[in-house]
Amino acid sequence: MAFDVDMIQRVYANLGERVEAARQAVGKPLTLSEKILYSHLFSGTPTQAFERGKAYVDFAPDRVAMQDATAQMALLQFMQAGRPQVAVPSTVHCDHLIQAEVGADQDLDVAKNKNKEVYDFLSSISNKYGIGFWKPGAGIIHQVVIENYAFPGGMMIGTDSHTPNAGGLGMIAIGVGGADACDVMAGLAWELKMPKLIGVKLTGKLSGWASAKDVILRVAGILTVKGGTGCIVEYFGEGAESLSATGKGTICNMGAEIGATTSIFAYDEKMADYLRATNRADIAEAAEGVKQHLRSDDEVYADPATYYDQLIEINLSELEPHINGPFTPDLAWPLSNFAKAVKENNWPERLEVGLIGSCTNSSYEDLTRSASVAEQAVSKNLKVRSEFTVTPGSELVRFTAERDGLLQTFENMGGVVLANACGPCIGQWARHMDDPTRKNSIITSFNRNFAKRNDGNASTHAFVASPEIVTALAIAGDLTFNPMTDTLTNEAGEQVKLDEPKGIEQPVKGYAVEDAGYQAPAEDGSGVQVIVSPTSDRLQLLAPFAAWEGTDLKRLKLLIKAKGKCTTDHISMAGPWLKYRGHLDNISNNMLIGAVNYYNEQTNSVKNQLTGEYGPVPTVQRAYKAAGIGSVVVGDENYGEGSSREHAAMEPRFLGVRAILVRSFARIHETNLKKQGMLALTFANPADYDKILEDDTFDINGLTGFAPGRPLEIVLNHADGTTDTFLANHTYNEGQIEWFKAGAALNIIRMKQNA
Ligand code: F3S
Repeated sequence: MAFDVDMIQRVYANLGERVEAARQAVGKPLTLSEKILYSHLFSGTPTQAFERGKAYVDFAPDRVAMQDATAQMALLQFMQAGRPQVAVPSTVHCDHLIQAEVGADQDLDVAKNKNKEVYDFLSSISNKYGIGFWKPGAGIIHQVVIENYAFPGGMMIGTDSHTPNAGGLGMIAIGVGGADACDVMAGLAWELKMPKLIGVKLTGKLSGWASAKDVILRVAGILTVKGGTGCIVEYFGEGAESLSATGKGTICNMGAEIGATTSIFAYDEKMADYLRATNRADIAEAAEGVKQHLRSDDEVYADPATYYDQLIEINLSELEPHINGPFTPDLAWPLSNFAKAVKENNWPERLEVGLIGSCTNSSYEDLTRSASVAEQAVSKNLKVRSEFTVTPGSELVRFTAERDGLLQTFENMGGVVLANACGPCIGQWARHMDDPTRKNSIITSFNRNFAKRNDGNASTHAFVASPEIVTALAIAGDLTFNPMTDTLTNEAGEQVKLDEPKGIEQPVKGYAVEDAGYQAPAEDGSGVQVIVSPTSDRLQLLAPFAAWEGTDLKRLKLLIKAKGKCTTDHISMAGPWLKYRGHLDNISNNMLIGAVNYYNEQTNSVKNQLTGEYGPVPTVQRAYKAAGIGSVVVGDENYGEGSSREHAAMEPRFLGVRAILVRSFARIHETNLKKQGMLALTFANPADYDKILEDDTFDINGLTGFAPGRPLEIVLNHADGTTDTFLANHTYNEGQIEWFKAGAALNIIRMKQNA
């Protein structure tokens, strides 16, 4: 139905030749990650080696996936490219905007109502531009992707941090911002710093209560939340081959929690099983035909320390179940030590809620293992002490689990089945609690457990474990319960022990679904109207940014000289503003409101040079815009670090800022600014930052000769009539200078389409 066999065949047809060319270029045997990366170069067949951790490389991903929150601006921007269709297969998944409150059906109805304009927009724009649309209730992006689109040896980007989930099917899948998704859909290259590689050798075999989740909980404990930064984590060894594809997906999913670029497993029989079970026998067969390219070279496996930048070994036969937390996913506790840690740290022992499911852990195997524990609550006459919720990852899984009686088992133990959506995992949880400030504990099978993540309450201690451990602890209602060693007192006063969980990887009767919730796009979308209400405050069609006027820029006002750290969150704050992420004008009212004004040390208070009065940054900038006056934002080191939020680049451009002049940029933000046609400049001499005075106006000279490597000249006109002149550097290449001249990168694509 929803996958693209032709595209996959094309990838496989080139694979052997490209891998061989890469081997020649690199001059040594290749890891799996390198094979996939080098076979997806934007330039085609590899001709040179790229240094890991250093070189920036242009890639051509095979697919794009977007969730409904981030898809809005990505697609509004995509419209600017003027293309009739997306350049690569793409999908939209409505999963983030559904709040869990009562149960699946009611919650879904409420969400459909509340988010109608967003869903109508996403559905219509998907229909028009050839994008697969997964309706609200169809499932969580990563589960739907692994069921339908992921394939061994492929490369995809997705606008969500847990995109790496598709590594469970041997795909390099990387979480990105909406701007990157837009670029790839528009046919542009996608840039990534060549990742370093961490090898994780898995020996032995899981047994008893230990599951795939415990592998990543252990790895998180070893590597910590920063340990994977800039790296791909590649799992291999006989232990890897023993894990189901969805178990592998769980491990890759949570690689995001160690900061990894992505994680991946080599193609194996378990992946073939899953492909066949999910109606993709043809892809399994095609993968078989190129399987030597879907794993690292033998020399790598024989001597991994030589080929990976870091190597870790885990023996699955000895791996204990883990519980990680609270407040950070890398605080890893083997189950046998956990009760002691709870007591010593004075964490609330009473477990109030156990939540299973989410994109991380809602495979059929996960649900069967959990149900085998849940079933014992009834059969052993145990009173379930905690609330319990189940979030299926997709309608395919939910329908199949219902047919096979698993959901009934959860309901029998008092569980509530929530909509197939992110729900409590993203904080979309109207939790019923007497006092939200009360210290309390919950445990989930999700991935993130930062303060406030699930229910918005700073006092909630959230722990992360496998779904079967979550289920056992929910029955006990006690964080200190160890199902491997402890007994529980049942309603008859007897001491009973829970049996080990039993799972079934693929449903014996096969997967089934009545309505998967998929809307295929129109064959010819040219007549389809994109639905955006002109009175909407959540969505607004974009107008192209104006082209450069062809002259130097004169008499620009200083908008703000930001002091110290200025992340994309300071530039475009999240929280309540996310509601407006599809409405550039409205969300621009948060522009730079978190930045500290150098002159008064306050946030969101800058001098309006036209009136001499202080006002909020967006208000002052709108006053300049209304007066037809451009402005400059000055910043310190590493300006724009943090998430790659494209709004942080679009808002200043939209409100009429002409240049961002800083001591240094975070690279992604610098690139985002360039794409929006903004001047992104750095002080040639960082000390010149001190020359900027509050009442300055700027001239930026040299633009008519704007060229790679040639600095621009900045003239500061001070209020007392004196001037300072200094140089500003830039990193624009020829193509990026064209973006500036055209007003934005997408303007160029549109011009080419119209040519
Ligand atoms: Fe959604 Fe949570 Fe996954 S927010 S995409 S279920 S990490």
